[in-house]
Amino acid sequence: MARKATDTPMGTAKKKKTRIKARTKTRTSKATTTRSEHRAKIRAKTEAKTGAKTGAKAGAKARSKTGAQPRKTHQDQKAQKTRKARTAQKVSWPDGAVQLFVASAPGVEALLEAELQRLTKFETKAVPGGVELEGDATTLYRIALGSGLGTHLMLRLGTFSARRFEVLVRKTAKLPFRAILGDDVRFEVTAKCRKSRLHHTGAVAERVTTAVAEARGYGQKSGPLVAIQCRIEHDEVTLSLDLTGEPLWKRGYRSETAKAPLREDLALALVLSSGWDPTTPLVDPFCGSGTILIEAARHALGLLPGSGRSFLFEALPFFDRGRFLAARDSLQAEMGRPDAAPLIRGADRNAGAVEAARNNAKRGQVGHVVTVEEAAISKAMVFDVLKESTETHGAVVSNPPHGHRVGDPRTLQRLYQSLGNRIGELPDGCPVALLVRDARIARSVGVPLETRLLTDQGGTKVRILAGVTGARGGPNAKGAKGAKDARGSKSSKSSKSSKSPKSSKSTESPS
Ligand SMILES: C[S@@+](CC[C@H](N)C(=O)[O-])C[C@H]1O[C@@H](n2cnc3c(N)ncnc32)[C@H](O)[C@@H]1O
Repeated sequence: MARKATDTPMGTAKKKKTRIKARTKTRTSKATTTRSEHRAKIRAKTEAKTGAKTGAKAGAKARSKTGAQPRKTHQDQKAQKTRKARTAQKVSWPDGAVQLFVASAPGVEALLEAELQRLTKFETKAVPGGVELEGDATTLYRIALGSGLGTHLMLRLGTFSARRFEVLVRKTAKLPFRAILGDDVRFEVTAKCRKSRLHHTGAVAERVTTAVAEARGYGQKSGPLVAIQCRIEHDEVTLSLDLTGEPLWKRGYRSETAKAPLREDLALALVLSSGWDPTTPLVDPFCGSGTILIEAARHALGLLPGSGRSFLFEALPFFDRGRFLAARDSLQAEMGRPDAAPLIRGADRNAGAVEAARNNAKRGQVGHVVTVEEAAISKAMVFDVLKESTETHGAVVSNPPHGHRVGDPRTLQRLYQSLGNRIGELPDGCPVALLVRDARIARSVGVPLETRLLTDQGGTKVRILAGVTGARGGPNAKGAKGAKDARGSKSSKSSKSSKSPKSSKSTESPS
């Protein structure tokens, strides 16, 4: 019969050896305990004899007499201090304030700062690319759940000067990575260097990776992946940790898209820049997958932008679910307007887009206030809701085709003129806001539109234009040329005295 390796005489010998080793180990550790107790007794006796704590010299004498261990070196003391600081950091966060950075799309910083001022009591500072602020864990949770304009939420881990790699590594390794990341989270480092002695981003990322691994301990990790960002500018290093994971604009409701979908944060920036009063109707005649309609409806109802998703920080050691849920409930109570019933109307000539918009609206919990019609711009009934006379008028907020695939710019121009014709039917005072690529083509709409912000969508420069119907120079304005022709007989009360955009021809964009 085949025997197991341990059953062989060799195996028995091994077993014996292991037992001896184990005994030795136990003895050693016991002996250490006895020696240290013995040393403590001798120290106590010496102190009792001298009547005071043993000073450096006396201590050395006593140690040489008693054979006690030498005093702690400077390095030991430093290491102890660092350990204490780490523990303090662990204890103070999430109650103590830390430095946070909320990133945004370029050009959206001022709108984001206004949004954050409603969400936190802490001071904010808009800088290029986002907003800086201090905050505790509750602030962090409120921003994650309540910000519709931020793209990422970063925890600033530390800022220091470094002109040499050794300094970069030493100072990075001192930061409390173990307390913040815990044991199981994986991480990756990205680096950006500008006008600095350390300019090789690859080498910087590599050194920071080593330093972080040293600070929190090596070993196989299987937790979620977090991004650590190292930015060096004029030799000043800033290390930040992305706490959100998936960008904040991924709200979770838009699982169906149509052609050229607009990002959720930019759709909200467009709505907020339009001058729309959320108690009045809003119309998007080129609604695609419905992003503008859904963002507008959720804003009007006071639904939290981040309530339908999870965040990476939920997997980090400091995360406190009880506190998070409390923050969510109190924020929802502050912002929610469950009785609001705005009329949000969309149209698109593409049946697939209409279907996607309807389904996305349901997922976004606004299926009951958003209605979408399958119609081309020239026939869409959605504008009717804006013609009813009220004290404050509803708005047209849209992201018309940019013309990537249109080819002939004149066709695109005719499409904008069609939009202008429909806007020309509206009473004076209706806010109009468009997100476009080409401001010159947008002039065909005939409403004087001002640039509210310049931003970037997927590497393409886009701008948000806004104005009001009937304003000087618009199709409803007194003295504007040819307004009546353009609008035909369906003109509103204000059209009697106003003129049209350049062309009256109603044209669709090519398929
Ligand atoms: C830039 S996309 C809008 C994207 C949308 N904001 C979203 O987030 O999905 C433009 C939309 O205009 C629609 N469109 C193009 N020509 C049209 C026309 N003549 N009438 C109505 N819709 C049209 C396209 O089907 C497309 O969905």
